[in-house]
Amino acid sequence: MVFTVVAPLMSSQKKIQRVLFVCLGNICRSPAAEIILRKVVDDAGLLGSIKIDSAGTAGYHTGAPPDARMTAALTQKGYDVKGAARQIVQGDIKNFDLIVTMDESNLEQVRRLNVGKIYYDKIQSFVGFCRTHTDLRVPDPYYGGQRGFDHVINLLEDGCEGILEKLR
Ligand code: 4NP
Repeated sequence: MVFTVVAPLMSSQKKIQRVLFVCLGNICRSPAAEIILRKVVDDAGLLGSIKIDSAGTAGYHTGAPPDARMTAALTQKGYDVKGAARQIVQGDIKNFDLIVTMDESNLEQVRRLNVGKIYYDKIQSFVGFCRTHTDLRVPDPYYGGQRGFDHVINLLEDGCEGILEKLR
């Protein structure tokens, strides 16, 4: 008898077409990541084939535009800022191919939505995609000063270049 061994399809082999960024409030880090990746992907000529979105683990800013300080920092760097905050829902775990969290708390919250751990591999930390920064997390800039927002943008620009390589 001949047995054919079929290797399970690893999520890393599946083409990534839908990316979701997740932070706490969806008004600072994750919308900025969404905006930056959209530009990076557009510059690479891939925007038509990639869906990019963002969400917060909390719903208290639902419907709000990106934070004014993040908007100012992004606009100064030439980004087109728009968006309305939303809270992540369980269906997002199934519907996106790559779910990228900003810090350990977001990671834990998103993993809790992944009931049965079916989609464990597609939930990843943003800093894992950074190529030059060695930060352990994308820090929450909400209660800090403008420099915090600029640092977040630098981190996001670095990591989004790394994510682009996974999308090609
Ligand atoms: P984000 O930042 O998670 O990067 O959107 C925050 C936004 C709002 C709050 C905390 C962090 N908040 O406490 O309202």
